[in-house]
Amino acid sequence: MKFFIDTASLDQIREAHALGVLDGVTTNPSLMAKEGISGEENVLKHYMDICAIVDGDVSAEVISTDLDGMVAEGEKLAALHPNIAVKVPMTRDGVKAIKHFTGKGIKTNCTLVFSAGQALLAAKAGATYVSPFIGRLDDVSTDGVRLIEQIRTIYDNYGMDTQVLAASIRHPMHIIQCAEVGADVATCPLSAILALFDHPLTTIGLEKFLADHRKAQKVR
Ligand code: G3P
Repeated sequence: MKFFIDTASLDQIREAHALGVLDGVTTNPSLMAKEGISGEENVLKHYMDICAIVDGDVSAEVISTDLDGMVAEGEKLAALHPNIAVKVPMTRDGVKAIKHFTGKGIKTNCTLVFSAGQALLAAKAGATYVSPFIGRLDDVSTDGVRLIEQIRTIYDNYGMDTQVLAASIRHPMHIIQCAEVGADVATCPLSAILALFDHPLTTIGLEKFLADHRKAQKVR
């Protein structure tokens, strides 16, 4: 399973990249706003900066909601760097835009997916990635990981190439559960990736190894 980081923070992207386990980045308008990135020029520059850090796909979301606007914006984003995947919302015009980008060989990420039917539509339009938001489903008492499992089954039934990108991940167990049910990608906050490293027995075990080593040096 690939690990993407779900942030527009260059510092966090650098930190995750330095761990050696990062395969890509996803952003969205909320994450860009959180970093204070606004204005077309600054937005495009920010995506270029991200692409310079990570050698993997970087999802850049369109703001337009009509087909012509999404196509114009997406083509501009895709022209920035070969690793850009144009992120498009799951709407009728969004699916049409995905079909358009697919025909032009432009990578896409269909976002705001909350049902298996929506995931099926995204795959039929040729989306490179589909982003089911598992945390937001959990928030409304619906099993987000179960949706990943359903989409996995449907795509495997028909040999659909669209990659299942589990999004809206909130904690390390989400990552593990997504890996268990066969998500292709998990896009995670840095905190969830870092939490995977931790186990109290690892900490205690290392302390004991080092204490024993120190003791042995004194005995000599
Ligand atoms: O990138 C989209 C997604 O990961 C949003 O996550 O935490 O805002 O539900 P969240």
